[in-house]
Amino acid sequence: MSLRFITAEEAASYIKNDENVGFGGFTAAGTPKVVSLAIAKKAEEEHAAGRPFKISVFTGASTSDSVDGALARAHAVKSRTPYQSTKDSRTAINNNEIDYFDMHLSEIGQNMRYGFYGKIDTAIVEAVDVTENGEITLGIGVGAAPTYCQMADKIIIELNRHAPAALHGFHDIYEPLNPPYRREIPIYKPSDRIGSPVIKVDPAKIIGIVETNLPDNVKEFAPVDEVTARIGDNVCGFLISQLKSGIIPKEFLPLQSGVGNIANAVLGGLGNSPEVPAFEMYTEVIQDAVIGLMREGKCRFASGCSLTISNAVAEEVFADLDFFRDKMVLRPGEISNNPEIVRRLGIISINTALEADIFGNVNSTHVVGTKMMNGIGGSGDFTRNSYISIFTCPSVAKGGNISAIVPMVSHLDHSEHSVDILITEQGVADLRGKSPIQRAKEIIENCAHPVYKPLLRDYLNMTRKVHTPHNLKACLGFHLEFMKSGNMAATNWADYQ
Ligand code: COA
Repeated sequence: MSLRFITAEEAASYIKNDENVGFGGFTAAGTPKVVSLAIAKKAEEEHAAGRPFKISVFTGASTSDSVDGALARAHAVKSRTPYQSTKDSRTAINNNEIDYFDMHLSEIGQNMRYGFYGKIDTAIVEAVDVTENGEITLGIGVGAAPTYCQMADKIIIELNRHAPAALHGFHDIYEPLNPPYRREIPIYKPSDRIGSPVIKVDPAKIIGIVETNLPDNVKEFAPVDEVTARIGDNVCGFLISQLKSGIIPKEFLPLQSGVGNIANAVLGGLGNSPEVPAFEMYTEVIQDAVIGLMREGKCRFASGCSLTISNAVAEEVFADLDFFRDKMVLRPGEISNNPEIVRRLGIISINTALEADIFGNVNSTHVVGTKMMNGIGGSGDFTRNSYISIFTCPSVAKGGNISAIVPMVSHLDHSEHSVDILITEQGVADLRGKSPIQRAKEIIENCAHPVYKPLLRDYLNMTRKVHTPHNLKACLGFHLEFMKSGNMAATNWADYQ
């Protein structure tokens, strides 16, 4: 059958109130760029006419302003999962206008197939190529597009001419069977390919193709500063010590690195360290720093779910696809983040905490326990199953008014059972094989900011030495003080007992 080209407005006209819509892509990379804007416009028109219009938005991870931002501003989102990082969407979530459920990214594909969240009415995916027999070559982000396309009644494709069709061959599309028929996922090294370069769908489901020619506009990373550089150095120092002691085998192990500025800076630090051998990555997002590491021969191969790279770096990659062709593979989030593979490959995971407590519990998502920042993303997929799980963060935030090391986390994403190493610009806390009190001493002395060390020592000494010496009245004292005076360092423990 022949492909039918339509406008973004016509595509939006097929989306009805209360639909479940699955968007392809992962971060801004490979995320649809125009149909979502037309849906937002339609929502505003429907609202102006007094009619309800909201959709449930399912994605692979965060998107971009063209999806989460535009739809949130148009009050067009009923519910949202599994992850977001856009300002307007975050505001609507924290105002309870959008029902957001935050989940491990590796689970979204399978949970959709299991039927936990209902059906997918429409899948909207970005592609660099599509054939009349329904073979779709995705853009630079995969996410949960294969599952959304398989499940959807209707598929809308944004055919983006900006990214080259020669991206064909960079993807490895594979969906596991549902239990009880699931088998092992046969990936034994990061570069193994087990699937197809394309998503294959019934072409009759493709209701239209919208042509675009737009860059992905991945947010630029903040330049490395003194603090992030020191965190990077501390990560390198730790990895080298593990290599020298034989805990990390001489062949080294695949690395996973989280999202954001700190993760990007840490990767840059690894590149600058001659003692860290050339490594492979089995990770979620392939960020700017990885491309530089590939050029330097420091990163031999990267398996990921998206090329979350800034426009300038994307142009560089697109212009030299043959150099990168045997150095990377893009997989569905269900596979890039798969716990079975993380455990098998012995991945060293490096993720970012908002705050960590003195016993090693980590909060990656909630500011002062109540406001959603972004979501857990893939950090739990990796952390819980990695060979060594590392968390990094600056020891203080907001000019020192917030200590990232607190007596008790105000929200829990990664428990003490899953966190091996905590690293700030102050130093490294190795929590492996240590009791809660030993961990607390290690974290306070090695990771806390000097301004907060005396307060944290006092907290630890406040309570009779039970197994985990919390003072249940005072444990959130830092947070309460921040809410009162705007500065955790002003905490007087006498006020919180
Ligand atoms: N309390 C309140 N705010 C805090 C804070 C704390 N304890 N720690 C950091 N912040 C603020 C920073 O001040 C900054 O605010 P700003 O945007 O107003 O400047 C913001 O949080 C982001 O911090 P930044 O230092 O720029 O870090 P980042 O860009 O590396 O992001 C996370 C850090 C934790 C938000 C981000 O890594 C994340 O969303 N992680 C969860 C998902 C994940 O780990 N995915 C990886 C899977 S593979």
